[in-house]
Amino acid sequence: MAATAAPTAPVPEGAHITVCEVGPRDGFQSEKSFIPTERKIEIANALFASGLRHMQVTSFVSPRAVPQLADAEQVLAGIDRPEGAFVTALVPNLRGAERAAGCALDAVHTVVSASETHNLKNVNRPIAQSLAEFEAVFDRLRKAGIGIEGGIATAFGCPFEGVVPSEQVGRIAKRYQDLGADSVSLGDTTGMATPLTVRAAIRAIREAAPGLEIHLHFHNTRGVGLACVMTGLAEGVTHYDAAVGGLGGCPFAAGATGNICTEDLVYLLQESGYATGVDLEALIGAGLLTQQVIGRPLPGQVIKAGPRLKRYDPALTATAAG
Ligand code: COA
Ligand code: ZN
Repeated sequence: MAATAAPTAPVPEGAHITVCEVGPRDGFQSEKSFIPTERKIEIANALFASGLRHMQVTSFVSPRAVPQLADAEQVLAGIDRPEGAFVTALVPNLRGAERAAGCALDAVHTVVSASETHNLKNVNRPIAQSLAEFEAVFDRLRKAGIGIEGGIATAFGCPFEGVVPSEQVGRIAKRYQDLGADSVSLGDTTGMATPLTVRAAIRAIREAAPGLEIHLHFHNTRGVGLACVMTGLAEGVTHYDAAVGGLGGCPFAAGATGNICTEDLVYLLQESGYATGVDLEALIGAGLLTQQVIGRPLPGQVIKAGPRLKRYDPALTATAAG
């Protein structure tokens, strides 16, 4: 008899949720003017100082494709690594794996898209070729003692092809499981995820690749990123990516905008009774620093409004009088 997916249980209140900060990778990659390496390091360190422990710090990609992240090795060499830090970077190919193997990394996030057109745009090769190259990529990383999170981009829809069937996501997840990935990460590259597509993709993976840990990576392009997190929690998922201030967006996907915002996600999780290990005030401070370095207001909301119980002086607020 074929293995059946384990029944889904919601994440219980009080559980620890892993928040993986991806602003330094997903956020910075689409910034036009080069952010000096020291400022990147300063932001990563401020984020760690707020209590965040998981961070995707950079990418080992072609510097011609993504000039902003050409300093990957220097950034990784420069950041503080607090106790419990788990540092990752994005890798699309064997050349990237070789570069990653020379750095202090806990894991690598490999990337392949669930849709053919986005894979061609993003890594200039068909899906089958990406997956074939992953054999050598996984080998190289295993030899270096580096873990692997198997990334699937456009997992909830493609800006070029439209619907991405959940069975396709399940098939790639199974391939990742066979290759020996520690987890699979579903990337919502252009904010096409909805509660229903999230539930379908999670269930397809549990069916196709039982036991494989699932991570979720949402963009807030259509304003439902945090609603998708609630669906993930209801389906038992305990790992979410987010970017400081709501930075983010793939330069190789039409219509891409920011990730869900880390401050907003941490606020939601804490107010829902989950543990994150993050000091929200300190995280807002890291967001303000990022905003200052980037030089424009970022889309996050808690960065503007502050924590729920922030108090205002009544004497400084106008009174409506007849
Ligand atoms: N790091 C640095 N340089 C790399 C590299 C890597 N991981 N992979 C390839 N290169 C270099 C090659 O050495 C070669 O350099 P040369 O022309 O000086 O000899 C050049 O890039 C072209 O190599 P090739 O293997 O032909 O790559 P390509 O042109 O087909 O591009 C990728 C493929 C994957 C390298 C490129 O599409 C890419 O970097 N994509 C990443 C996109 C991304 O980051 N998207 C956002 C995240 S989802
Ligand atoms: Zn993303």
